[in-house]
Amino acid sequence: MLKTPAIVLNVKTYTESTGTNALELTRLMGKIASETNVSMAIAVQACDLSRCAELGSIPVYAQHIDPIKPGSSTGWTLPEAVKQAGAVGTLINHSEHRLILADIDTCILRAKDLGLETLVCTNNVATSKAVATFSPGLLAVEPPELIGGDISVTTADPGIVSNTVQAVRKINSSVKILCGAGVKNGKDVSKAIELGADGVLLASGVVKAKNKEEVLRDLAAGIF
Ligand code: G3P
Repeated sequence: MLKTPAIVLNVKTYTESTGTNALELTRLMGKIASETNVSMAIAVQACDLSRCAELGSIPVYAQHIDPIKPGSSTGWTLPEAVKQAGAVGTLINHSEHRLILADIDTCILRAKDLGLETLVCTNNVATSKAVATFSPGLLAVEPPELIGGDISVTTADPGIVSNTVQAVRKINSSVKILCGAGVKNGKDVSKAIELGADGVLLASGVVKAKNKEEVLRDLAAGIF
């Protein structure tokens, strides 16, 4: 299970984090994680899973799995394939790849059967409460309107973080809770921890940064 507090980078499908760039970012995060002793993980595109996982530096997650079993599902992402490619876990239900509740449940069950860690994204407190009943390992609350923006959820909507933490802990205290959307620096990370979260899920703040190492070190500093 991912050690928390943690910084989880979802590299999405940006050019700056595709293919060899994903590999470079994984390598860089591995270096910073080991130097700072801060727990970090990266979620890469399915095509990049194998090579990033082969580095063996930080936990590599898939960005998505589908609620399917081996067989005839052309173009879908089979949980077994993600596992064989070296992923230790997977995001489920990211705002940019939403699933219906029943499929979230199936994905979590399929992932658990395979020993894959589960990080389920939610868009508000109500969805977080519903997802908590499925017992994912981690849940990340991200208001969709703040994703990719300049203002961190911890500043723009701290209530969604603290209320999610409170509501989810009441339902299922074993679920680790991250927050994300607009997170950019160490201050945002420490605010997330202050609000009760176990870390952050972020993307553009690192992927689009000119100096990724500087940003990652600043984020890591926010954990303490
Ligand atoms: O999965 C993380 C994400 O949706 C947040 O994106 O660019 O606002 O950090 P960003």
